Amino acid sequence: MAYRAPKALVEDGPGPQSASNKDPLIVDVEFTESEEIAGSPILDSVESVRTKKASSPMELPMSLPTPEGRARVVTVINQKGGVGKTTTVINVASQLGLRGYRILVVDADSQGNCATGLGVDKSRVKTTTRDLILNPETAVNARHATAVDNVHMIVGDKTLIGLEQEMLRQLGRERRLSEALSPLLPHYDLILIDTPPSLGIVSVNALVASDGIIVPVQTEYFALEGLALLSGTVREVRALLNPSLGVDGVLMTMHAPTTLNQQVASELREAFPQLMVEPAIRRNIRLAEAPSHGVPIHLHEPNSSGGQDYRDVVSVLERRWGLRE
Ligand SMILES: Nc1ncnc2c1ncn2[C@@H]1O[C@H](COP(=O)(O)OP(=O)(O)O)[C@@H](O)[C@H]1O
Ligand SMILES: [Mg+2]
Repeated sequence: MAYRAPKALVEDGPGPQSASNKDPLIVDVEFTESEEIAGSPILDSVESVRTKKASSPMELPMSLPTPEGRARVVTVINQKGGVGKTTTVINVASQLGLRGYRILVVDADSQGNCATGLGVDKSRVKTTTRDLILNPETAVNARHATAVDNVHMIVGDKTLIGLEQEMLRQLGRERRLSEALSPLLPHYDLILIDTPPSLGIVSVNALVASDGIIVPVQTEYFALEGLALLSGTVREVRALLNPSLGVDGVLMTMHAPTTLNQQVASELREAFPQLMVEPAIRRNIRLAEAPSHGVPIHLHEPNSSGGQDYRDVVSVLERRWGLRE
């Protein structure tokens, strides 16, 4: 697989000219292959740049099945903005709602776009995701009906900005969302959490509450580098807070038939053969315009390519999540 290192790393890091350098911390091949330091993120990245190959920082653990009798909790996450997280939450939730599953969407992003896309009037909402994180017992009364049957949601809004600072002194701050969602679990088949484009405390709350994550990636330059960063966070959360967190799928979004898109897609398929969710979601203007009508793609233009792709993806996820045999 062709690994494309970030430019700064190539320029500042040890290039081929330093291969003769005797400093073992940087380029000694035998040293980097020894057992003690295999898995060191710094050395792995140095080695991967040197050999132009992606290595272990990219490993993503697969998730476990959902325990019987309760909702699966899934966070849609990528610290990069504009990769299709919110679009994926809205349309996966809606398509499953249309298939008769009981779905709860929790918007943990201060932009609050899930409400718009699901036809919820934010100005009438009193209890938001922020309240839920600060006071987990408010969860039951924070839910709203949406434009789609069977899909409920808890609205995110700009009051989530600043929450990170406010929570700095709070004990158990990573588990608030998990506590809040716990009484709701028996009442849904799936709880889908939308996240902000960062890996701060709100995103960590979502990961701690989750069984699995879906990672939307745009098939563009640096897709793999972004995943390496995210996989570091997943590993930390698993080690410290939620050992059963795993990856439910990597979903390619805004895919177009360009050479670059195709090349990145094949690199992703090679890196994560078990985790890819096919098909890739094609770039489709209908997906972008649906939120302005306050409805998901399946109530806007169900037969558009975006409508078809999300339907197909949901069929794969339905099986992967054990919703259907
Ligand atoms: N497959 C797609 N084709 C065309 N536009 C898309 C597609 N997916 C998302 N968009 C648009 O791209 C923008 C960013 O998507 P969004 O889902 O908001 O990303 P994120 O939540 O990761 O920031 C939005 O305007 C959205 O409507
Ligand atoms: Mg978003």
